[in-house]
Amino acid sequence: MNFIRGATTITEDTPEEIRAATEELLRAIARENNLDGDSVRAIIFSTTQDIYSAYPAKAARECGFEKAALFSAAEPLIEGALPLCIRVMIFAEGVLQREKHVYLRKAAALRKDISVGLTIALDGPAGSGKSTIAKALAAAYDILYLDTGAMYRACALCLKRQNISPDDAFAAARAVAAADIGVRYENGAQRTLLDGEDVSEEIRKNEISMMASTVAKIGAVREKMVAAQRKIAKSQPCVLDGRDIGTTVLPDAPFKFFITADARVRAQRRLKELEERGQTGIDLETLTREIEARDEQDKNREISPLRCAADAVVVDTSRLNIEQTVALIREKIQEKI
Ligand code: DC
Repeated sequence: MNFIRGATTITEDTPEEIRAATEELLRAIARENNLDGDSVRAIIFSTTQDIYSAYPAKAARECGFEKAALFSAAEPLIEGALPLCIRVMIFAEGVLQREKHVYLRKAAALRKDISVGLTIALDGPAGSGKSTIAKALAAAYDILYLDTGAMYRACALCLKRQNISPDDAFAAARAVAAADIGVRYENGAQRTLLDGEDVSEEIRKNEISMMASTVAKIGAVREKMVAAQRKIAKSQPCVLDGRDIGTTVLPDAPFKFFITADARVRAQRRLKELEERGQTGIDLETLTREIEARDEQDKNREISPLRCAADAVVVDTSRLNIEQTVALIREKIQEKI
């Protein structure tokens, strides 16, 4: 069973307005969630007490929800509540995708996290905690997480498999152009695909990191990856992490953060992460140097270098744990919503 929420408002308490607004809301919910008359089992309406000229449930019958059980109730008088508001809860069966709640007209203000288009851009250097933070934000807001670094890593793996050096920009660009690099989601978790093969684990090897940074300097590679990232980001609310999200991929993203931390702290985190994946034999000094070299390359490349967007909020995570960082970012998002 799926539970879908929605709300809308009217300007005057007339049966015509109630009917039109309810129909508009129900049709929008049905469209967004691919519902048909049979999949809706029940609809509960509630209206604010300034609406008394008609039941919205009547409109539901008239617009095709013939089998659903319908119920309308009046809400308590709450001071400061949005006036002339019709709220709905739909119980449906067989919604394959994630439920899409719909807030129309003045009711859009009730759930700005949905209606504003919650696109969150997280940029920053390697090991700053971006991906852990991005996953936590995606879970908190129930939105998609796109790890764009994984796509450049898949490009690097594609070259490695063909023995092409990422320094050979021409050959590298040609190989990436011919490759099919994409993502798919399994229980909400991103899987990264190279020519249809799931390479999510292989791209995490330490040797791929620097190669990914080098291949990411190539203009044609970036163009292909950025186009794919924009396409995903446009289709739904999401959080993206990378190096150029707030500056190039989604310069209009409403929420931008630049996550950073001391190089040594970042190296310590990366070491822990590699060890957890069973990649041993790498010492902290080497990793710190590697991270610094990668930062330099990512910051100093010609195209879309790692840079903090002018309108991004800088978050230094050197002395913050993940929970504290996520709480801070959520506070900033709420302030702006
Ligand atoms: O975040 P990561 O370590 O998985 O990224 C690997 C490399 O990919 C990174 O060193 C630079 C590059 N990259 C990029 O250029 N632009 C992005 N949006 C994401 C990653």
